[in-house]
Amino acid sequence: MTAYEYRAGLEGVPATQSSISFVDGQKGILEYRGIAIEELAAKSTFLETTYLLIWGELPSREELSAFENEIQYHRRVKYRIRDMMKCFPESGHPMDALQASAAALGLFYSRRDLENPAYIRETVVRLVAKIPTMVAAFQLIRKGNDPVQPNDGLSYAENFLYMLNEKKPDPLAARILDISLTLHAEHTINASTFSAMVTASALTDPYAVVASAVGTLAGPLHGGANEEVITMLEAIGSVENVRPYLEDRLERKAKIMGFGHRVYKVKDPRAIILQDLAEQLFEKFGRDKYYDIATELERAVEEKLGNKGIYPNVDFYSGLVYRKLGIPLDLFTPVFAIARVPGWLAHWKEQLAENRIFRPTQIYTGVHDAPYIPIEERRSSMTTME
Ligand code: ACO
Repeated sequence: MTAYEYRAGLEGVPATQSSISFVDGQKGILEYRGIAIEELAAKSTFLETTYLLIWGELPSREELSAFENEIQYHRRVKYRIRDMMKCFPESGHPMDALQASAAALGLFYSRRDLENPAYIRETVVRLVAKIPTMVAAFQLIRKGNDPVQPNDGLSYAENFLYMLNEKKPDPLAARILDISLTLHAEHTINASTFSAMVTASALTDPYAVVASAVGTLAGPLHGGANEEVITMLEAIGSVENVRPYLEDRLERKAKIMGFGHRVYKVKDPRAIILQDLAEQLFEKFGRDKYYDIATELERAVEEKLGNKGIYPNVDFYSGLVYRKLGIPLDLFTPVFAIARVPGWLAHWKEQLAENRIFRPTQIYTGVHDAPYIPIEERRSSMTTME
């Protein structure tokens, strides 16, 4: 008989073998296909990084140009998808709208040819191209406007900001969004990627793979934290309030949003870059008082929790960047999803190349040989709905 050790949250348990990305949580290192995230942030673009993640190598000039053209060509979404989105309640969360729309793509592109490299490429292109269009479309529809069509003259990040704000963005703003997308593109076996891999392992269609990952990313312990960070900074309200707020949260054993990570025990390297991007934006477009609150909170948390390895994670500064870019609060996590599509799809492709369906085991903690009690003898402990 095999003895199993149970680890809550599968902490430290390898779920796969992968050559896509690497994290050293003690040294604060993140690499995509062996290239340091700092290098990619400084020198690459989101679409070039997407190519690198999916196909394992940086593209040649011709390969990149062909890939960018294909993405541009596929940015539009079918009018039926836009009409479907018009039926969504405008009060609904954009992550739910995105999950439903991503799954709906599977209705339109139902061919499933998982062993064909051309199908893999076509699917990557469709999802990378269309997800930003769907995020922007829901934003305009819920404001009562018609979605803006993608603009072929604009880069990936420029076009997203254009579809969202109905005007061409400032070049610095677009470059900073592009870097931010690169920073969020992949991160080993996090919760949403694991969801994607489990779904992929059943040989489900790739749109359902991405939809399941979007659902997982939406949670406040994962991608949803970026939204909660801003809500928290607003609740703190002033630099003077930072320490009393922190004391109160810690006394109540509540988490401080945007801090802590299962893997990083030092400041997340992406948070370091995002903090720098936030400073660049403030320099050009004006300072934000929430940045001062954030830096004071970082200092205070480090004093109190640094010994436990709790430092800012990627979500701590990304919200400040998105806010300055004019992205509405509840679109922060959808923007994270746009960025993570390449990571999910790289793992989908890797999973398909050597697939075995995920089917872990459990340690049963229930009873055995329980009697079947007739209904008239059972005591009810349920409360009824009013
Ligand atoms: N604030 C205060 N204390 C914290 C925090 C935090 N943000 N994060 C961890 N801790 C403490 C816990 O209270 C616990 O202390 P204890 O050992 O004294 O009980 C210890 O650190 C370990 O915490 P766990 O929750 O067990 O760590 P885990 O690895 O399971 O969780 C997680 C990691 C979920 C990210 C956690 O740090 C957290 O909830 N952070 C806040 C939410 C957040 O920012 N999420 C975004 C993560 S990045 C991403 O998903 C893209």
